[in-house]
Amino acid sequence: MQGWVHGMDKIKIYGGKPLRGTVQVSGSKNAALPILIASLLTDQDCQFESVPQLQDIRTVLRLLAHLGCRVEADLDKNTVRMNCGEITTLEAPYDLVRTMRASVVVLGPLLARFGQAKVSLPGGCAIGARPINYHLSGLERLGAEIRLENGYVIGSAQKLKGNRIVFEFPSVGATENVLMAATLAEGESLLENCAKEPEVVDLARALRSMGAEIEGEGTEVIRVQGKSSLHGTTYRVMGDRVEAGTFLAAGLATRGAVRVEGLDPEVLEAVLVKFEDAGARIHREPNAITLEAWSRLQGTDFTTLPYPGFPTDMQAQFMAAMTVAEGASLITETIFENRFMHVSELARLGADITIRGHTALVRGQEKLQGAPLMATDLRASASLIIGGLCAQGETIVNRIYHLDRGYEKVEQKLRELGADIVRIKSEEN
Ligand code: UD1
Repeated sequence: MQGWVHGMDKIKIYGGKPLRGTVQVSGSKNAALPILIASLLTDQDCQFESVPQLQDIRTVLRLLAHLGCRVEADLDKNTVRMNCGEITTLEAPYDLVRTMRASVVVLGPLLARFGQAKVSLPGGCAIGARPINYHLSGLERLGAEIRLENGYVIGSAQKLKGNRIVFEFPSVGATENVLMAATLAEGESLLENCAKEPEVVDLARALRSMGAEIEGEGTEVIRVQGKSSLHGTTYRVMGDRVEAGTFLAAGLATRGAVRVEGLDPEVLEAVLVKFEDAGARIHREPNAITLEAWSRLQGTDFTTLPYPGFPTDMQAQFMAAMTVAEGASLITETIFENRFMHVSELARLGADITIRGHTALVRGQEKLQGAPLMATDLRASASLIIGGLCAQGETIVNRIYHLDRGYEKVEQKLRELGADIVRIKSEEN
């Protein structure tokens, strides 16, 4: 329950120092969430390594325990052991799904293994409406009957049957949900216009390690031969590309030299190319990336897109770096409709940003000045931290619980890079 206790913590930063040093990247949050949920597909023991110690991970483990899974988590060591042999309920309640949308991907596995599921609709969140229609229509194509009742999705199926599914949009969550369901469906499924994100690939690998027959992950078309059952596994989660990109963006913004270790540079290529456009030198190695930024950055335009395009989860952090670049940057967000909430907070640091619809025009400033700020969502929090790290003087970021949902030991890692940053514990502690 640690995360709740930290509810009102703040972060205090004295900015203006270039970051220098090496960071070990944690396991990917967005890969770990569906991979932990995949253990619902088998009654055998599963063990997962490199699971990050984060609030969102605790939430998904609470949900799995609620369903009756035996969960042994040692998040200090980043390992989780799980057995979902004796499920006691097929209902994912509102309180658990509301706090974390990724919970809706329990629907596919529960339907596939037990033929029934009742999962709360997640509702809106700060960055947009985020409906789950693509998840539901994909599962219907596999033969599930779906109805909505009192804010819940109620699904049932005698036995899911493989089919051809063409996603309207390459949604990450819908691809994951339907992929998991298809592994236990009868016969072959052909999933088209799939999300190609590395986290989908990592999930497919984890499923394959459980005996699933899957081909084509990382491309638009995934082919799945359904099995009557899957078996247990030991699986290590991939490194977090958004965490890595965030530390590199902090290095860029403060004109420092930052090395991140623990991921394949390929998964961050669209971001690295933009860092280079902005004037950074990037050195790619098999399991590490080094960024050096010595002179003032150049303004750079970019548009968020599904993978392999520039990730929406890096938009806010890169924007923060561009606020101190020379010249203007035109930043277009195409994935979520309301993902510029960091803009008004960055403006409090003196950033000059104008929004028109889905596009933000950033006019780079020589300097930012520290100010009190309010975090609104996970990646917005990271961008405010970056803003504070390049601003002169003191910045306080309030509502830091958003950051704890997605960044493991963030202030410790930033301190190792030389940042002057401390957490101020809330008075209730
Ligand atoms: C995942 C990531 C999130 C990332 C996003 C896009 C996790 C836990 N979260 O979220 O960090 O920002 O991918 O890379 O992995 N949509 C619909 N109907 C649907 C599903 C999606 O309209 O049924 C829309 C969404 O509202 C959004 C867009 O499609 O505008 C992309 O969403 P999606 O790819 O599904 O993102 P998530 O899986 O929710």
